[in-house]
Amino acid sequence: MVSAIRSMGLTGLNGFDVSVECFLSQGMPAFEVVGLPDAAVRESRERVRAAMKNCGYEFPVRRIVVNLAPADTRKEGPVYDLPIFLGLMAAGNDLSVPPDAAFIGELSLEGQTRPVTGMLPMALAAKASGVRQIFVPEANARETSLVTGLDVYPVRHVRELLDHLTGNGQIAKAPPYQSQPVPFECPDFADVRGQDNVKRALEVAAAGAHNVLMIGPPGAGKSMLARRLPGILPELTNAEALDSTGIHSVAGLTSREEPLLRFRPFRSPHHTVSAPALVGGGRIPRPGEMSLAHNGVLFLDELPEFQRDALESLRQPMEDQQVTISRVGGTVTYPARFMLLCAMNPCKCGWYGHPAGRCRCSEESVKAYYGRISGPVLDRMDIVIEVPSVSYEELSGKEQAESSAAVRKRVCAARLKQQARFDGQGPPSAHLTQEQMREVCALDEAGDKLMKSAFERLGLTARAYTRVLKVARTIADLTGSETVAPPHLAEALQYRQLTMGN
Ligand SMILES: Nc1ncnc2c1ncn2[C@@H]1O[C@H](COP(=O)(O)OP(=O)(O)OP(=O)(O)O)[C@@H](O)[C@H]1O
Ligand SMILES: [Mg+2]
Repeated sequence: MVSAIRSMGLTGLNGFDVSVECFLSQGMPAFEVVGLPDAAVRESRERVRAAMKNCGYEFPVRRIVVNLAPADTRKEGPVYDLPIFLGLMAAGNDLSVPPDAAFIGELSLEGQTRPVTGMLPMALAAKASGVRQIFVPEANARETSLVTGLDVYPVRHVRELLDHLTGNGQIAKAPPYQSQPVPFECPDFADVRGQDNVKRALEVAAAGAHNVLMIGPPGAGKSMLARRLPGILPELTNAEALDSTGIHSVAGLTSREEPLLRFRPFRSPHHTVSAPALVGGGRIPRPGEMSLAHNGVLFLDELPEFQRDALESLRQPMEDQQVTISRVGGTVTYPARFMLLCAMNPCKCGWYGHPAGRCRCSEESVKAYYGRISGPVLDRMDIVIEVPSVSYEELSGKEQAESSAAVRKRVCAARLKQQARFDGQGPPSAHLTQEQMREVCALDEAGDKLMKSAFERLGLTARAYTRVLKVARTIADLTGSETVAPPHLAEALQYRQLTMGN
């Protein structure tokens, strides 16, 4: 008496087919799960046993072997409760399960379903491997219905599922996904008085997805400005929205009612965050802050306060736009293409360089303060901008500052220009490849001369050189210019001028 039920597994963001085979045989009553199950999968036995008994079904007094094929890939989490339950019912009774149906879900001891994480990537993989009907916990149904071309059946209780499969009842299919208008809640740039230069820098950064470091005294509005950045970013494209939602789904952060992320994620971990929390990890490797910020912003406020190893962990992912987490039996890769936004004071007391001479720090302590941030991390900043204290005139002025909506319009126009390049596949400037960059960031003779003198004067690295060119490209896009002209380059170079304590 063998049954085979289709289900899905997940390694990182990659879903794969799992066949849950149940074999009931004569012999000493036992219940074994094989096929590289982790602890949560092994515990399925107890949940399934209890659910069966509590629902009035007879638990088979047999030797039960459940094999999760393929046997050489790790199976994690409680997603196999539902298929194991069904497999036992099918092996012991006359129950026919459609061959194009897959089952995923955790069970309570009473047979109700419980939501699981990573449903979206699993459902996408299920569809790709020919599944046409998918039975999932009710709480996951809306997220599953983001995958078009799958019949999604929300299961509340195993009894309902058995009734459905035996023709004694019918579970209604989940309606196709329709997005609901969600209000975008983000404070407005108009609240910030003065700081026009900083706002301009943030606009450039938003238009090209560049990294920004803001340096300024306490109370100048750095945190305030940073929190307003999402308001000037373009909406996620459909493909980006699915990608980001997949990552949030694996982390268990999607909302039941509105699972699709529509707005760019803004992650601001506290400075006590550990390197593994940024990178991701754990027994079942979960995405870290860098991956949760994929397609959005990672904001590190009070940059020098972060632990050194946490900051160092940013280096490779920022080059590769993905993080690789090593673990027993292989590695897991999550995408991590984010804009890094950082804020810091110029020194320990916060007032270095203040015109009124309020700073009490020695030159050494100022240097040591910057020393906490390693050179390679600073080198990855595209735009370094000073946020000066706001004057009384600016604070008390009556002039209305520009709204986020107005800035966002210009940002979106520039992004559209970038996207139109390379057969409509153009990335934001920050993510241009070397080859693409040569094509769209070419300088004329005057620009070349300007770049050469700045390169030598500022002691730019090769990385900084390409980053300056990309920022200049973005500025040209904001201006509506097809070529990168000297004024665009000059502005880009200005964002590398800050001497940073040297
Ligand atoms: N430019 C500004 N316009 C209007 N209000 C401001 C401005 N700058 C600061 N404020 C007010 O001061 C408060 C503190 O600003 P904010 O927290 O952004 O400072 P900060 O630069 O991050 O300081 P710190 O270095 O101490 O973190 C804000 O919540 C806001 O009420
Ligand atoms: Mg602050």
